[in-house]
Amino acid sequence: MKLGPVVRASGRALSTAAGRQQRRALAAETADQDQVTRKNFADVQRERKEQAKNSVLISCPSKINEKKFLKHLSRHGEVANHFFFDSHGVHALVEFVNTESIISLLSATKVPDNEDTCVLPFKSRFIKVKSQELDLHHVKCTPQTSVSINQLLKKLSGAKNIVDQAHIILDELQLTEESIRVRYLVSSLVSDIATAYFPEATVHLYGSSVNSFGKMGCDLDLFLNLDSLKDVSGKPASSFVTEYWMRQVSSGRVAQQKVLSVIGECIESFGPGCTEVHKILSARCPLVRFYHQSAGLHCDLTADNEIALRTSELLYIFGNIDSRVRPLVFTLRCWARVHGITSSVSGHWITNFSLTTMILFFLQKRNSPVIPTLDQLKNLAGKNDKRIIEDNDCTFVSDLSKIKPLENTEPLDTLLIEFMEFYGTFDFSKNCIDIRKGVEKNKPDSSPLYIQNPFEQSLNISKNVNKCQLERFVHLVQEGSWTLQKQASQPLEKGKEHWGLASILFPTDSDGLFRSKKRLDANRLGSILDSLKVSNNNRKTTTQKQ
Ligand code: CTP
Ligand code: MG
Repeated sequence: MKLGPVVRASGRALSTAAGRQQRRALAAETADQDQVTRKNFADVQRERKEQAKNSVLISCPSKINEKKFLKHLSRHGEVANHFFFDSHGVHALVEFVNTESIISLLSATKVPDNEDTCVLPFKSRFIKVKSQELDLHHVKCTPQTSVSINQLLKKLSGAKNIVDQAHIILDELQLTEESIRVRYLVSSLVSDIATAYFPEATVHLYGSSVNSFGKMGCDLDLFLNLDSLKDVSGKPASSFVTEYWMRQVSSGRVAQQKVLSVIGECIESFGPGCTEVHKILSARCPLVRFYHQSAGLHCDLTADNEIALRTSELLYIFGNIDSRVRPLVFTLRCWARVHGITSSVSGHWITNFSLTTMILFFLQKRNSPVIPTLDQLKNLAGKNDKRIIEDNDCTFVSDLSKIKPLENTEPLDTLLIEFMEFYGTFDFSKNCIDIRKGVEKNKPDSSPLYIQNPFEQSLNISKNVNKCQLERFVHLVQEGSWTLQKQASQPLEKGKEHWGLASILFPTDSDGLFRSKKRLDANRLGSILDSLKVSNNNRKTTTQKQ
């Protein structure tokens, strides 16, 4: 079931291949019609979190009788939703209609008595089926990875045109409904651990899992919000102060480090399914990194990162106000990954976040803009949208219906070529990219690529990028623009395997051979595309959230 980053407001699940094709065709034909959600970010978060609270994760044997499984569960209450997926073994995500069902299920769950080991006394919503009890039948697992290279190639070659191809890339790479549910459930399980220690804490998802640009396999960015505690301490309520109720430390950063250290310890000790827990507390933005093996997700947990949540909402708005934005971003992210412009390892590469911001800036810079600037979104803000976080003005409109569509009707393929043209000739030596104003400004320092953080305006989100990586990017956009323009001027050759977007994703020379000094073979292409997929073991080892 591929539904995009949220359940579409108007749409029912188009789960079949035919359904997907139909939706794509519709999107291609009605290019700018409403293929995006109209739900506000906060509403989506609320709904998803509720769903997750009513859900459990169940480790299953590889063969299980689905009917009997559901019958067992229904003794505890009505099941609203369920699906099976494979991540280090078969698992089921089961959502109940009522939370009481979970309490009932957990209270009926036996702690295993194993003579050799002792259990740590923490009950979570991650349980296991006793295999003897249910008949053995294979269940259908929903995929948690994106398509293979061969499948993607085949799908692209069967498309009608470049716009159709971009929609195929979006459909194949974006997060599925199931993957989104698994992400919110993991966040909810982490919240159970955090609130056991800090009852006032809340855990939020941010980054690509929620900003409408997440692709299958992207990391799960979480942050722990302890602001409610601060609010309590700020109240002049009674004749008591919190001196010995709350310990005082020298700075917010030290407080974050202490809290994350404790939570990291808890995740390691009590977090079922959590492995490879690393506390990276000395990073600019301290974090706990771990792998949720049963969900197959790499997770980064930070503390008090509210600005990043606000940034995610801003990106979500940009992704949902015009139906061309997401296919364009997914296509360019895919292109960037194939060419090693972006990487799963942190370093001097352009990040997905930076690349997305560059695309948004380009869309604001069209003669007739495709999307508004952040300042324009701020002007549309109502009273409840006002947000000042750490002295930074993070105000912008949240209600998508207040944002009227702009007049630009350029087709997606034109925008793609124009993006490449734009950055092929952009004066990076002088100019800085700013999506708040939507105009170039003089660079405040000599960083090769300067993209101003829209909220913390003294920060450059691409500070990590070096000259060499920027030059590669410029060279590749120039080459991509040339290739696409050549394609556009030639009639489409029926039956030709690599045309349109395939020609920039898998470059070929005029003889139809893969172009490379070594000549890229199918295996190499396979390994490149594999790196786009979920099972990404080559994780970044340090972090640089600035
Ligand atoms: N972020 C930021 N400034 C940076 C890096 C990150 O504000 N220099 C915030 C952004 O809101 C970003 C989020 O942290 O979306 C998560 O960062 P990251 O995981 O690097 O990017 P994603 O957008 O999640 O993209 P990816 O799919 O590559 O994880
Ligand atoms: Mg991320």
